Amino acid sequence: MPYSKCVFHFDRWRVSLCRILLQGAALASYNRISGTQDREIKPYTYADLSIRREGDKSIMKQIVLKQDAIHRGSLILVNALHGVAFDRPEVLMTVDACAKPWNRKGETHTLQKHPDGAASILPGCSDEADSLLPACSDLADSVLLEKQTASLLDKLMQEIGGWDSIIPVSGWRSIAEQQAIWDSCLRESGPEYTQTYVALPGHSEHQTGLAIDLGLRREQIDFICPEFPGTGVCGQFRKRAADYGFILRYPAGKEAVTGIGCEPWHFRYVGIPHARIMEENRQTLEEYIEYIRQFDSPLHPYCIRTGGHAIYVSYIPATQGETTVEVNDMAPFHISGNNVDGFVLTQWA
Ligand code: DAL
Ligand code: ZN
Repeated sequence: MPYSKCVFHFDRWRVSLCRILLQGAALASYNRISGTQDREIKPYTYADLSIRREGDKSIMKQIVLKQDAIHRGSLILVNALHGVAFDRPEVLMTVDACAKPWNRKGETHTLQKHPDGAASILPGCSDEADSLLPACSDLADSVLLEKQTASLLDKLMQEIGGWDSIIPVSGWRSIAEQQAIWDSCLRESGPEYTQTYVALPGHSEHQTGLAIDLGLRREQIDFICPEFPGTGVCGQFRKRAADYGFILRYPAGKEAVTGIGCEPWHFRYVGIPHARIMEENRQTLEEYIEYIRQFDSPLHPYCIRTGGHAIYVSYIPATQGETTVEVNDMAPFHISGNNVDGFVLTQWA
């Protein structure tokens, strides 16, 4: 669906209840049309956020964000400069494909350049492994992702019939696993290759559960650089990815910005509509986080339209201690930390 910029008048906060109800109806319809907005249309709060109301005289709601909330959410920027501030997402789940064709009878896949022992879920982290084992515990190579990421990946794959030919190669990694991959790659392929294709331990998006490496089903699969061409079902995946909130995180030509070589197989969940904006603007996550910074007031947000509905995106700089954000109590919103210095607020109208 095409998106376009629009002008935002903040008078909308003073709209009548009637108009709000109409907006709600329209949004519900948007949700039905797209079928992929589950997370984004729900008021989304972190467990560590406290919410308080300003009495019943206002439709505005104040949300108080704790300082460390800047390190959480689907828009966190993770790279060499900005590390991952937590061990694992709150909820991890198995990529559905693991329970389906991944271990089909008679089909075997060998991961090449796989670090010693890293074929198991959590090498060197048996204490964590117990709580992360998937329901289908007979699977040795289960791939785990943050819950919403796994769900939307599966929806996208279902739409394109992707699981028959695409394998989830690598999802969530503990810092120990990232270290094992780094060490093994360094040993086997040297520093230049390692620095090009493996993020420093502590600085990998895979540690967030928001990133997935995908590869074509082959007998031999390169664990570090799986094959994911731009044609066929992989091409279809690329075309539809943004509509499910995924971006190609390390595109060709942006190596100097991301600090990582071109990785056609690595997709990152950033959420809807951010993936669409980034794709249309040809922005990496680094560039998008910087770009949104100019919309530093909910009074003057970046605005896009899709299917007749407006979505507003603004940057909220974190203040010392707690940061208070005002949102419309009657409309859906989403807040993510940027992992740098503030938050990105997304509001649907
Ligand atoms: N391959 C990506 C850069 C990672 O190791 O996180
Ligand atoms: Zn990756």
